[in-house]
Amino acid sequence: MLESLEKLAADPILGLTAAYNQDNNPDKIDLGAGVYKDADGNTPIFAAVKQAERLWHDEENTKAYIAQVGFEDFNSRIINHIFGRTHPAVEDKRLCSIMAPGGSGALRIGAEMLNRCRPGTTLWVSDPTWGNHIPLLGSTGLNIRSYPYYDADSHGLRFDAMMNTLKQATKNDIVLFHGCCHNPTGVDLSREQWDSVAELAKKQGFLPFIDTAYHGLGTGLDEDVYGLRLLAESVDEMVIVYSCSKNFGLYRERIGAVIVMGASTEITEAGTSHITNIARQMYSLPPAHGGALVKTILQNPELYTSWKQELDEMRERINGLRSLFADTLAEKNAPSDFSFIKNQYGMFSFLGISKEQIQRLRDEYSIYLVGSSRINIAGISPKNIDYLTDAVISVL
Ligand code: LMR
Repeated sequence: MLESLEKLAADPILGLTAAYNQDNNPDKIDLGAGVYKDADGNTPIFAAVKQAERLWHDEENTKAYIAQVGFEDFNSRIINHIFGRTHPAVEDKRLCSIMAPGGSGALRIGAEMLNRCRPGTTLWVSDPTWGNHIPLLGSTGLNIRSYPYYDADSHGLRFDAMMNTLKQATKNDIVLFHGCCHNPTGVDLSREQWDSVAELAKKQGFLPFIDTAYHGLGTGLDEDVYGLRLLAESVDEMVIVYSCSKNFGLYRERIGAVIVMGASTEITEAGTSHITNIARQMYSLPPAHGGALVKTILQNPELYTSWKQELDEMRERINGLRSLFADTLAEKNAPSDFSFIKNQYGMFSFLGISKEQIQRLRDEYSIYLVGSSRINIAGISPKNIDYLTDAVISVL
């Protein structure tokens, strides 16, 4: 039977990591997958995570299954962490979180639940969006359509075009937004733009589906969820997907959450029951370890302070790298202006170079970036900045 299968090409993002690892060039640079790196190119474990592991090692006294929704104290704490304790949806008990295998697992079970509500209903995604959104969400049966987002000429947001298109989204539609640090463009909505989106969502009645994978890596923990919190005050129903891969550095532990917000506690509970039922059909139960670490950090003030400090440093370092890259290219008289990179947020930006130039960077300089020209800013460092900027200028 298996002989009928043809071998597929490597994943456009994850395949880059494999190719980079096999490259023997000592000057190689990995600007591919969205993984944070320090100045030496390592992905460190947060000190708070290490300490939480020690504490959990002592505290854990069984390996029996955890509940279908995961750890209750992970779920309650992640809701407070995202929304704050006094958000009306928290006070009204209209939010329920389910632990999931990473943000991707959360996206999938959330989307499956939405597809159960109205099979084949339309899900609007930004153009462009994360390379795996359409394969992952489209394979649930949802009908994917796109709304304008990125303007390649100005390197900014096509806000008017986006709003005009979203006027077509009705109460039977779902609209996917990136909570912050838009992947792949780094272009985020301003507060005023979120205000307009919230008004439109209320008027049109579409269901916001918010993917939050970079909380704290844009402008700050509260600032990065401005739009999410506002939308949750403006509409009756929403689904939020949260990843702890990047902001807790727990990539391989696969820990995320899907949070359902219904018009009432009963509706939220019904939605949650479908999500656990879907998870049961797909993989049964969530993994425990990552959730145990996150809840340990969120419930321990000392660990929380340490975690937040490290996260703040990561964010500031990424912003510093944005300036370093753009300013170094300018100092070297690069033929194009890259100052727009300083106005964007999170791990990613588009370089805006051609497929041929991307291939030359890889073939001639062992510099790996996604085929859309997305670069992971965290892969830049003071050690590789000269090699990188010389290479970019040489292919321009
Ligand atoms: C990325 O966009 O690079 C990350 O989210 C990793 C992935 O799974 O694609």
